[in-house]
Amino acid sequence: MGSKAHIVLGIESSCDETAVALVTSDRRILAERIASQEKEHAPYGGVVPEIAARAHAERLAPMLEAVMEDAGLSLAQVDAVAATAGPGLIGGVMVGLVSGKALAMASGKPLIAVNHLEGHALSPRLADEALGFPYLLLLVSGGHCQILSVEGVRQYRRLATTIDDALGEAFDKTAKILGLGYPGGPAVEKLALEGDPEAVPLPRPLKGSKEPHFSFAGLKSAVLRAYESGEHKAADIAASFQQAAVDCLIDRLKEALGNAGPHPALVVAGGVAANKAVRGALESLASQHQMQFVAPPFKLCTDNAAMIAWAGCERLMIDPDFAGDPLNLKARPRWPLDPDAEAVRGAGVKA
Ligand code: KG4
Ligand code: ZN
Repeated sequence: MGSKAHIVLGIESSCDETAVALVTSDRRILAERIASQEKEHAPYGGVVPEIAARAHAERLAPMLEAVMEDAGLSLAQVDAVAATAGPGLIGGVMVGLVSGKALAMASGKPLIAVNHLEGHALSPRLADEALGFPYLLLLVSGGHCQILSVEGVRQYRRLATTIDDALGEAFDKTAKILGLGYPGGPAVEKLALEGDPEAVPLPRPLKGSKEPHFSFAGLKSAVLRAYESGEHKAADIAASFQQAAVDCLIDRLKEALGNAGPHPALVVAGGVAANKAVRGALESLASQHQMQFVAPPFKLCTDNAAMIAWAGCERLMIDPDFAGDPLNLKARPRWPLDPDAEAVRGAGVKA
C-alpha cells in the first residue's frame, strides 16, 4: 500500500441510525449518509428493536449505493469494508454486518468487524490529527458511561463504568417524564436553558466515592418524584437534572484522574458529548489539570458511520496487511472494550 491513503467503507446499524460513510486514512470524509429512525420510534418513547432492524434492512442497500455514487467510487477502489459487529441491538447489528460481509465477499476486500464503542473512542482522532495516545476518555452514550485510558488502537483500560444506567439513558428518561418525547437528550438540553439549575434539589449518586464509577438510577427516580410532586416547573427540573449529571461526571472524573496517572488530553465521545453544558464543564476540568481538551464535532458525537469507517482506517494503519475478519464472525450484543475489566457490583442491575 505504501504511503497511499486507505479508503474504507463504513456501515453503522447498532441502534436507531442507519449510516454509511466512505473515509480515508488521511482523515477525509468522502461521502456519508445517515437516516434517523426518530419518526418510527417516537410513538413508543424509545427504540423498538424489531422496528429498528426492519428499518435498517429497508434503508441500507439504497444508502450504500448512494454513498458510492456521491463519492464517484466503485467497490474495487475501496480498501476495506468496516461494519459495526456489536455491541448493540442484535437484529440491527446483524443487518449491517451481513451487508458488510456480502460486500467484502463480492469485492474480495477485507471485512473489518468494528466494535461500536471503539468507533466512538477513536472518533476524536478523525477530527483532530494532533490527538495522540494515550488519552483519558469519557465515553457517554445511550448505552454506556465509562472512563477509559485509550492507550492505542485496540488497547483500552477501563477505569470506571456505570453500576446501573448510562447517562444518555437518564437524559432520555428525564425527557420522557417531562413529556419532551424521543430522543430526549437534545430536548432536555434545550429546555434546561430556560430553567434554574439550583431550583430542584437532586442527588449526586456516588459523589465522593473512592472508586470512580457512576450511578444514575437514583437521579432518574428523583426526577420522577420531583415531577410528580407538582411543585416544580419542567424547565427547572431539566436544568437541575442536567446540573446534577454534570456534577457527577466531574466528581467521578476527578477521582479517575487521581488514579489514572498522567494523560496529556481529556477527551469526550458518544452522544451525550454533544451536550454543551457537559462539554463546558469538561473543558474547565481539563484546564484545571493542565490537560488538553478534545471533543469531536457534534455530528461525530452521536451514532454515525464515519467513526466506524475511521476505526477501520486505524486498524489498517496499525496492520496494513490485515487480511480481514472471518466472514463467519458473529454479531455481538455485548462486547466490552476492555475484556479484562472486572465486573462491578451492581452493574447490569437496572432500577
Ligand atoms: O452515541 P449515541 O448516538 O448512541 C449510542 O450508542 O447510545 O448516543 C445517544 C444518546 C441518547 O441517549 C441521547 O439522548 C444522548 O445520546 N444525547 C444527548 C444529546 N444528544 C444526544 N444527551 C444530552 N444532550 C445532548 N445534546
Ligand atoms: Zn453510539
